[in-house]
Amino acid sequence: MDSEATNKILIFGGTGYIGKYMVKASVSLGHKTYVYARPISEKTSLSKLQLQKEFQSLGVIIVQGELDEHEKLVSVIREVDVVISALAYPQVLDQFKIIDAIKVAGNIKRFLPSDFGCEEDRVRPLPPFDNFLEKKRRIRRAIEAAGIPYTFVSANCFGAYFVNFLLRPYDQPDHILVYGSGEAKALPHPENIPISILHCIFVKGEMMSFELDKNDIEASKLYSDFQFSTIDQLLDIFLSDPPRPASAAFE
Ligand SMILES: NC(=O)c1ccc[n+]([C@@H]2O[C@H](COP(=O)([O-])OP(=O)(O)OC[C@H]3O[C@@H](n4cnc5c(N)ncnc54)[C@H](OP(=O)(O)O)[C@@H]3O)[C@@H](O)[C@H]2O)c1
Repeated sequence: MDSEATNKILIFGGTGYIGKYMVKASVSLGHKTYVYARPISEKTSLSKLQLQKEFQSLGVIIVQGELDEHEKLVSVIREVDVVISALAYPQVLDQFKIIDAIKVAGNIKRFLPSDFGCEEDRVRPLPPFDNFLEKKRRIRRAIEAAGIPYTFVSANCFGAYFVNFLLRPYDQPDHILVYGSGEAKALPHPENIPISILHCIFVKGEMMSFELDKNDIEASKLYSDFQFSTIDQLLDIFLSDPPRPASAAFE
């Protein structure tokens, strides 16, 4: 691997649903990879411990720390070129602490905040989801104001996540919940968030409601060799070996 083409990459939230794929992809592309993770305690799950062991066997450097340990953040950020955050949604505003540390470190070539959802600057969903997105918009504005080079990644819906969420093949439910009779007047928070996300995606079609402009790039063009799974192929997998459904944290 040409070392000119590789970077040192620090990933926050690297043990999470999305983060673990990023860590493995970073390693497989030859980048020296660091994961900033909360310190191990008696509350750390066995699966997280196993994942961290797996990362270490791949050569990943795990830095244990909390997000409010400013000096530690600055020193680990000084060691790397690129910072990726895949923190859970409830930690979105904690990314101000990462931004502050990046500003002090002053060396970061690129920062990717924890977006990985819909294009929050161009959609206006119902208030429960819009309030959720507003926090991610605040992080984008702070990155721009700080002059940090960035890439904002709009992943729209991860197929496996949403097809699984909708069909639930793993649970084999004996009843099906039908949304949208129009009878329900209100849902308590935070249960109203996933419902307003589904409304935004499947009722309003907001993922497809805007055109890309000259500053945007359709990510699949960057990875033309990558073999994407079609929904058809995904449904075959779900029939033969259904994965457990994931549910993003909302608070
Ligand atoms: N487009 C889609 O379909 C889709 C689907 C799901 C999520 N998303 C988005 O993707 C991003 C990541 O979501 P995710 O579901 O992958 O996250 P997740 O698995 O719930 O959590 C990611 C990581 O955040 C860290 N974390 C969790 N609680 C924390 C706390 N109290 N303090 C500090 N760190 C904490 C943990 O890392 P450590 O334990 O290692 O510290 C955890 O592994 C979010 O922005 C979310 O909105 C998009």
